[in-house]
Amino acid sequence: MTDAVHYEKLGDIAVLAIDNPPVNALGQAVRQGLKEGMSQAEADGAKAVVIYGEGRSFPAGADIREFGKPPMEPHLPDVCARIEASPLLVVAAVHGTALGGGLEVALGADYRIAVPAARVGLPEVLIGVMPGAGGTQRLPRLIGAESAVDIIASGRQVGAQEALELGIFDRLEEGAPREIGLAYASELVEQGAAPRPIREMPNPVPIDFDAAYEATLKKGRGQLSPAVAIRGVQAACELPFDDGMKRERDLFWELMETDQRQALIHAFFGERAVSKLPELEGVAPREIAHVAVIGGGTMGAGIATAALLSGLDVTLLEMNAEAAEAARERITSNLSGALKRGKIDEAKLAHLTETALTLATDYDALAQVDMVIEAVFEDMSVKKQVFEKLDATCKAGAILATNTSYLDVNEIAASTSRPEDVIGLHFFSPAHVMKLLEVVVADKTAPDVVATGFALGKRLGKVSVRAGVCDGFIGNRILAVYRAAADNMILDGASPFQIDAALEDFGFAMGPFAVADLAGLDIGWAVRKRKREEGLPANARDPHFADRLCEAGHFGQKTGKGFYVYEKGSRGRKPNEEVLEHIAADREAMGITPREFSDEEIVRRYMAAMVNEAAMVVGEGIARRPLDVDMTLLYGYGFPRHQGGPLKWADLQGLSGLLDDIKHYAAEDPVFWKPAPLLEELVAEGRTFDDLNKEET
Ligand code: COA
Repeated sequence: MTDAVHYEKLGDIAVLAIDNPPVNALGQAVRQGLKEGMSQAEADGAKAVVIYGEGRSFPAGADIREFGKPPMEPHLPDVCARIEASPLLVVAAVHGTALGGGLEVALGADYRIAVPAARVGLPEVLIGVMPGAGGTQRLPRLIGAESAVDIIASGRQVGAQEALELGIFDRLEEGAPREIGLAYASELVEQGAAPRPIREMPNPVPIDFDAAYEATLKKGRGQLSPAVAIRGVQAACELPFDDGMKRERDLFWELMETDQRQALIHAFFGERAVSKLPELEGVAPREIAHVAVIGGGTMGAGIATAALLSGLDVTLLEMNAEAAEAARERITSNLSGALKRGKIDEAKLAHLTETALTLATDYDALAQVDMVIEAVFEDMSVKKQVFEKLDATCKAGAILATNTSYLDVNEIAASTSRPEDVIGLHFFSPAHVMKLLEVVVADKTAPDVVATGFALGKRLGKVSVRAGVCDGFIGNRILAVYRAAADNMILDGASPFQIDAALEDFGFAMGPFAVADLAGLDIGWAVRKRKREEGLPANARDPHFADRLCEAGHFGQKTGKGFYVYEKGSRGRKPNEEVLEHIAADREAMGITPREFSDEEIVRRYMAAMVNEAAMVVGEGIARRPLDVDMTLLYGYGFPRHQGGPLKWADLQGLSGLLDDIKHYAAEDPVFWKPAPLLEELVAEGRTFDDLNKEET
């Protein structure tokens, strides 16, 4: 027996305890241990076997770290088949999360008991594969094709009560998994219950699989795994069990070979690695119980909402009573959304709005708070005034954070006598919904202040990324460049509508011009005006078509018109043909003869611009690792998860070909296209961005 599975015989019942912390993933040693444990139980003359997980969970899946490596025997499908084929009664006793291979092992058992807090699911599609150890064959036989498709194609976790109602669990019982498993197994043995292999259950009734496949592919914006997994369930309906297993295996391996699988697994480990920084090891964060937010506009109210929902006391400072009341309304409206979605109840809503939230119009109210997050107008002189006042008012040790999206955090910090307490916390709007938080570390920020930024991010349920100081930090700096690449393509002949469509096909939730309409065109307008004042690089192109929209009062969705026209009552968008006239005027003024762009070229140029700037951001140390950029784009900019983030995408495309393209574009427009030194270095050394991730983590 391996160390990963402990065997014990208690009277008629053998117990197999899986012990592979932290989540009892089904690595080779666990698989081997389960197989040997079954043989041992049979050899020992046991009547029943109980399988459970030590520690926090029943197995939470196959060991994802083994993916992409040569498979090692025994294979999981064979282990599940071995359990199912045993003449002994096998009981799975589930607690924690029985996910993926974990649920497949449980489906190999004859009976399943769980604690009420347990959860089950087949989340393989979320990492680009599909159940590969009988999940698509046994689950539909047990609960029907429709419910199985829902669970398998969504990858969602199912609570114990729902799993009981569906028939996945036979019984729920409070207690330790070992104890409830043993009691249930004894009862079944006493009753003389018979084994109940799922493979012998009849084929489930089919649904319209072609329709489900198409709808799922469309919903996933090109992500293959959920759709392909549906074909596995189809096989359960149409084929004998063993043929269905073979079909499942073939589909599984097809997905295993895809770039999407690599991209999604990169995202899985990336989102866990992103907040693990060697510099913070052993650094304790400061205590935060009470935060203040300055400014109650959309952003400030969103930040206050997120903080309240995480259990923090919040003081919101506004300029006057009227503005404070408007801020209260925004926060209450955000929290009512949380109430509607069942995240909080009425009593909690009342507590948050009446007790936990305080409105203030005087800086004195901030004297005792542990942290201040400033979300006022994006203007350096305004920010400096705020920080001077905070410096004069706040207690020693209070963290002074700015939510600026572009401005120099070092300069803001220098306006106080305590720059070590100043940090950037860049939230994304709406701040109580968007998962990204850029923790912007200025030159003098103290390590425990950085640690507190990350601790706050975790408390608010955010994916926190460390960023250095530069114009736009990680995300907005890269955005400015790929958006400029899109604008250049427009000047050269593409339309905003074609660009949006091409990028939505690539997998973005929205193309850049639809995003600009959503965010408000006035934001970009203000940035362009500032950059023009600061002075553009010599010979840089400076299109004005978006300015023309703003000058006419068209700021996007909020005014009903921008790049698109938004009609009241209809959720769709229609191209705003007026934009084409503004674009034509720009082309004429610049003497450009428009040419055709293929969708493929649009994606290639847009991505090349994104990757090149991302490589600069990593090369300059603004982002510590390529994965930090990838997580920023995934969580803050709608980058399709199944493409892994720009730098993972670049690795998968091949860096050398991408660099060749960038050089080719640079020959046409050397002002905009300048190959990033880091990209050139990696190509010269035959390495990838992911190699850098591995060095750093
Ligand atoms: N294989 C390998 N490692 C795994 C794993 C798996 N299937 N599932 C989790 N881990 C690791 C995580 O990487 C993390 O490692 P770290 O501490 O070195 O960062 C550790 O286990 C704890 O996981 P974490 O996600 O931080 O804990 P959690 O309590 O928030 O969530 C789970 C636990 C199981 C819900 C979550 O990890 C999960 O969804 N895992 C993947 C499940 C899955 O996809 N299974 C199907 C695989 S085919």
